[in-house]
Amino acid sequence: MPADDIPGVVVTGAAGGIGTAVAREAVDRGCRVLALVRQPPADPSVLDFPGVHVCPSDVSRQDAGDAVTRALARSGISRVDVLVNAAGIVRHGTRLAATSADDVLESLNVHCVGALRVARACLPALLRAPRPAVLNLTSRHGSLALASAGGVQGVEVSYAYRIAKAAQNMLTACLHQELAPRVRVLAVHPGRVSTAIAPADADRSPAEAARHLLDLAENAPQEWSGRFVEPPSTFLEW
Ligand SMILES: NC(=O)c1ccc[n+]([C@@H]2O[C@H](COP(=O)([O-])OP(=O)(O)OC[C@H]3O[C@@H](n4cnc5c(N)ncnc54)[C@H](OP(=O)(O)O)[C@@H]3O)[C@@H](O)[C@H]2O)c1
Repeated sequence: MPADDIPGVVVTGAAGGIGTAVAREAVDRGCRVLALVRQPPADPSVLDFPGVHVCPSDVSRQDAGDAVTRALARSGISRVDVLVNAAGIVRHGTRLAATSADDVLESLNVHCVGALRVARACLPALLRAPRPAVLNLTSRHGSLALASAGGVQGVEVSYAYRIAKAAQNMLTACLHQELAPRVRVLAVHPGRVSTAIAPADADRSPAEAARHLLDLAENAPQEWSGRFVEPPSTFLEW
């Protein structure tokens, strides 16, 4: 098959639980994958399979976009059908007095500005795909509606994570406003997934989350762009 006929998937945070599973699932579906990792995974074999091009990319760096552009060129992936922004950090700070402003800024830089840098670098290649999708992995905890109603029962506020996810949600809305319907852009709460940052009530495996995410990218109708979704088809309030 000519390279341009093979769907391309870019995933950030690809050494993480959901990112690795997305890379594997995408290859199983016949896609070529650019797996962007902050640092090589502890076990390099998790991403060492045909169809996956692994590249270092710290999305919090100013030059992250240029690095992604170069990585796309090196990988030979000219069209990006799906971009999954999965890079994420959790900085705890459940009391105002103990919350570090640096943690908030670092979290904003990774979850929101990092996703912006990568989306900008991928845009030309997204526009080469017939029906592209950007999935920004967010969290139910980034919902202003949920937080202002008291949040999830029993879960303490976490300033840095929630502020960063809420900002990333606005990024999703802005990208939607500019790019839809040509590019579908969704804020996706992946569910409670058993990874390194899993919540105590995690009930979904990374592999299941990855299947849901790629099904969503493939099947989400245009009207779902600009919405806050938990796969397979639950809509959350912003
Ligand atoms: N797991 C859940 O239940 C859940 C629920 C809601 C939302 N999410 C969101 O889903 C996404 C994936 O989470 P996960 O559960 O797969 O967590 P994870 O296993 O901790 O993976 C997150 C990945 O992001 C990478 N990362 C951190 N900072 C980065 C940076 N500056 N540049 C590039 N990569 C960076 C981490 O790299 P290192 O390994 O080098 O630290 C890690 O590989 C996150 O955005 C998270 O907030 C997860």
